[in-house]
Amino acid sequence: MKIITIKDLCFGYENVSVLSHISLSVEHGDFVGIIGSNGAGKSTLLKLMLGLLKPDSGSIRLFDKEIAQFKEYYKIGYIPQNSSSLAAGFPATVEEIVKANLFAQIGFLRFPTKKHKVLVQQALETVGMQDYAKRMIGELSGGQQQRVMLARVLINHPQILLLDEPTTGVDFKASEALYALLEKLNLESHITVMMVTHDIERISRLAKRVICIDHNGVLEEKHDV
Ligand SMILES: Nc1ncnc2c1ncn2[C@@H]1O[C@H](COP(=O)(O)OP(=O)(O)OP(=O)(O)O)[C@@H](O)[C@H]1O
Ligand SMILES: [Mg+2]
Repeated sequence: MKIITIKDLCFGYENVSVLSHISLSVEHGDFVGIIGSNGAGKSTLLKLMLGLLKPDSGSIRLFDKEIAQFKEYYKIGYIPQNSSSLAAGFPATVEEIVKANLFAQIGFLRFPTKKHKVLVQQALETVGMQDYAKRMIGELSGGQQQRVMLARVLINHPQILLLDEPTTGVDFKASEALYALLEKLNLESHITVMMVTHDIERISRLAKRVICIDHNGVLEEKHDV
């Protein structure tokens, strides 16, 4: 099944063209690395896929629906660029950060139940952060914060993860662990992964596909069958 289909997408900010004639598709179970130089438009592409920006021309389909008709955004887990450093300034515990993403289900006026607490605990266990539930997010290392960010999106059981440079500011060992975790989620839980990174060497080893974005469009550099 195709999860994302992009055809001939063009986009610019205030008439400064950033992406021109991008076409690509992502299948269920794919592990796709997106590479490209600073300013190439990688983050912009993710925002277009999330409906946060509107294309100038071309089309985007998500889960076999035109993006304008698509409403099931809980199926997409998005971790924006620098999200953990933003979260680190927040006076909140790990548990609260993860639970906050459940509000779509809980509703703002109802108190979280015991069931929700269990879901938070399970999500933290998946990323190996169950012992840190009561800690302040700002007290954790960069790698630990990224795991919490991952738990925060996993709590909604997404079918695809869109990750924008999740290993920036994370040391070698912790990013190895994060990559291993993403590989496990992809292979065992069949979660489709699309990840922007500058870590070309490691993503080339790990991802099934690596796509390079530049001003001329996309170039698929690796495609395992
Ligand atoms: N909100 C905005 N308004 C105007 N221009 C923007 C905006 N956001 C990004 N840009 C510009 O669009 C281009 C693409 O930015 P984008 O953030 O998508 O690049 P990127 O490939 O993610 O880069 P990096 O590797 O540095 O994260 C850049 O030239 C950037 O300056
Ligand atoms: Mg970016």
